[in-house]
Amino acid sequence: MKFVDPSIQNSGLNLDNNLLLGWQKTILKLARRPKHPDFPRMNLHERVKLIMAQELANVVKLWQVFTSERQNINRYLNDPKKQAVAYLLGFHVANMARVTMLMERAKTRHPLSEYLKANKLPTELYDFGCGTGAMSIALADFLFKQGVRTSELKVNLYDLRKAFVDTAAVGFAETFADEIKLRTEKNSVDIVFQNLKKINAKAKEKRLQIFALGYVWNELLRHRASQRFFKELLQQVVTLGQHAMVVVVDAANQNIARETMMLRDELVAGGWQALYPCPHSLACPMLERSRDWCYSEARWDLPPLQKRLDMKLEINHQVFSTGAYLLVSPAVAKDMRMGKPKPIVVGRPLKKDTQKKPKGELSYLLCSDQGLSKTPAKSLENLVLRGEEF
Ligand SMILES: C[S@@+](CC[C@H](N)C(=O)[O-])C[C@H]1O[C@@H](n2cnc3c(N)ncnc32)[C@H](O)[C@@H]1O
Repeated sequence: MKFVDPSIQNSGLNLDNNLLLGWQKTILKLARRPKHPDFPRMNLHERVKLIMAQELANVVKLWQVFTSERQNINRYLNDPKKQAVAYLLGFHVANMARVTMLMERAKTRHPLSEYLKANKLPTELYDFGCGTGAMSIALADFLFKQGVRTSELKVNLYDLRKAFVDTAAVGFAETFADEIKLRTEKNSVDIVFQNLKKINAKAKEKRLQIFALGYVWNELLRHRASQRFFKELLQQVVTLGQHAMVVVVDAANQNIARETMMLRDELVAGGWQALYPCPHSLACPMLERSRDWCYSEARWDLPPLQKRLDMKLEINHQVFSTGAYLLVSPAVAKDMRMGKPKPIVVGRPLKKDTQKKPKGELSYLLCSDQGLSKTPAKSLENLVLRGEEF
């Protein structure tokens, strides 16, 4: 029997052109200009292609640091301007795809769009450890598509490194036609969380706060105090009955994914409601099994420049993975009248299983409010991926 690898199937997520154009214009603005005689006559795509070739060694190095030499990260980030461009070239688009997948899936399962349209609340978006702004730029794009007006949105960008907050600010200016209210702050998130807690305690105006953490929770594992301050900030939101959402995107590997699952569990225990990926807000049944972990997968129609980069880095984002979560405060959940999603795929047949097991033994692992259950995989074509409804 032939196994159809999901990665060769198409019809995946498509990132909007405005996000890709904004990304390219940001690169053009911030990267060193290649000394190619035809550069001034090239179109945007050709120019970025040339810049990508010029900066490839930096991107490869950054990739290695993030994937296998994480302990060297601080030493590597000694030249933040160079690294901001490398991050923009190597990671930014894939992270925009991850957060877009998360919001789009949550939107099909719950009346998220209707909530945003009906409430018309002033919205504060906080991007903690913003890097090049992948999370907040993709989130702002999502919010605008749901009818949030530019005048209703304020974006707050925080990072330890000034070069990163500056890059994210350029990203906003190059992506959106209207000027967006932006606040940038070079600061450590532990201080930011504590400051926001003080501000929130006095907040009078009704507003929606969106707290975003993209590939930062794993960096805070060594700073437990920062994690505690974040949880305290979110607990205060519940106590004060404020409208808020938490968006967390992080790595899909066992250690980090389980840390993110634990954050999700603590938040639901404190009253937050899970919109994605979980079809319930009970304790996570996968955390009870020490060798299990939950993450999401999506098929992605890669833009040509990402395809090119994937080839150079010998990776494949056609099916990407991420530990991605969207939770809302009880006040939002009450106004939204949340949907009741179908069971969610948290395990699926893998290629190696098909070689070892007969077809009848291949199964999906599903998560629902009844806990975990197995169901046979009738076909190995068009596999349902992790994080999708079954
Ligand atoms: C892996 S990058 C992720 C960037 C971006 N959020 C994304 O999703 O693409 C992590 C970022 O967090 C920042 N960072 C790490 N620890 C931080 C801290 N304690 N306070 C503020 N920023 C931090 C780093 O400088 C870096 O820009």
